[in-house]
Amino acid sequence: MTRPIWIKHAAQLVTLASDEKGPRTKEAMSDLGLIEDGSLWIEDGIIQAVGSTKELEKHYSERIHEAEIVDATNHLVTPGLVDPHTHVVYGGSREHEFEMRLQGATYMDIMNAGGGIHATTRMTREASEEELIEQTTCRLDSFLAHGVTTVEGKSGYGMNLETELKQLRVMKRLQEQHVIDIVPTFMGAHAVPPEYKGREDEIVDYLIHDMLPVVAEQKLAEFNDVFCEKGVYTPEQSERILEAGKRYGLIPKIHADEIEPYGGAELAAKIGAISAEHLLKASEEGIKAMAKSGTIACLLPATALYLREEAALGRKMIDEGVAVAISTDCNPGSSPTTSMPLVMNLACISMRLTPAEALTAATYNAACAINRQEQVGSLEVGKQADIVLWKTKSYQELQYLFGVNHVKSVWKKGVKVV
Ligand code: NIG
Ligand code: FE
Repeated sequence: MTRPIWIKHAAQLVTLASDEKGPRTKEAMSDLGLIEDGSLWIEDGIIQAVGSTKELEKHYSERIHEAEIVDATNHLVTPGLVDPHTHVVYGGSREHEFEMRLQGATYMDIMNAGGGIHATTRMTREASEEELIEQTTCRLDSFLAHGVTTVEGKSGYGMNLETELKQLRVMKRLQEQHVIDIVPTFMGAHAVPPEYKGREDEIVDYLIHDMLPVVAEQKLAEFNDVFCEKGVYTPEQSERILEAGKRYGLIPKIHADEIEPYGGAELAAKIGAISAEHLLKASEEGIKAMAKSGTIACLLPATALYLREEAALGRKMIDEGVAVAISTDCNPGSSPTTSMPLVMNLACISMRLTPAEALTAATYNAACAINRQEQVGSLEVGKQADIVLWKTKSYQELQYLFGVNHVKSVWKKGVKVV
């Protein structure tokens, strides 16, 4: 038995507790379940009680002497942040492409010339499993330092069975070794490998018949993602891949309408994807369809900034009733960052989310986008004690003082890790 932890006197305790299940939409995205002078009692890695300091003091009066006390006076306390969309396992780096893009080359130009995703694929194929573990560990450490306690991770820099499995095995090993929880997604359809150029339907068949069954059999992924984009996979090809994944129990996600409007949001709604990602160019009808189907919009404002594009219409999506989550998209090309606090700032600045909505999008709705809302994303009795204590006194101040890491301490499953 570990000693109980009593976090008390939080200036603001953001619980995000609610009786409603499922992703939050509209006004519910602003309801943070805020408790002033808030308090949490943690035992065996699980939250045992949440309330005001007065309430918990009374309830635990007989046991206070047992507890390790954390005085959070003048500090904000929130759930651990959840990043529902990353490409965190990769070999090498692409800083030269950053300079090329500053000189005018586009993301797609670079990819079509064999760079971009293809360059990282070559470097990931060459890297050993140990090298990938080492590089990814550094990135996960950085996530943790920024208050992120759960991340989704995608394969997709293999695009052959061997390397896709290698990336997924790295995630499985890191789930065992690293304190961060990693939720794995298979993304064999991240690009069309050059060896399949002009034979796109053959790679779709290969993905469906040779890759998906093995990934499913080895239980290496929970989700299946496709880059549905002009010049990559068409909506029809994406649908085939995602429907095939469903038959193996893999839940669909879609990189949709990132560079051009392409019917990705509509497809996400049609096939019941749990989330659609990017959506910079999503159509009006696509947004309406997602609101109706309950598909979560996973928006990536750091990617838009990095590609010097207009951000997605986050404000409009919330007003139309779409549940919005946000993410770093951590990857070596379009968003090499591990800072979810920066992503929250950008969600406010470039998509006009309110500070409260941005926090919901980075915690509870993010957990819903990776099916972890029963375990993480809010501070409620019975949930994992994944908690961040911030240097700021309020969530408003956290979103306002931008581009700075305000994390003071992080607990993962009740253990102080930062
Ligand atoms: O989500 N758009 C496709 N995939 C990634 C980028 C991957 C890369 O450039 O390496 C994204 O932005
Ligand atoms: Fe992505």
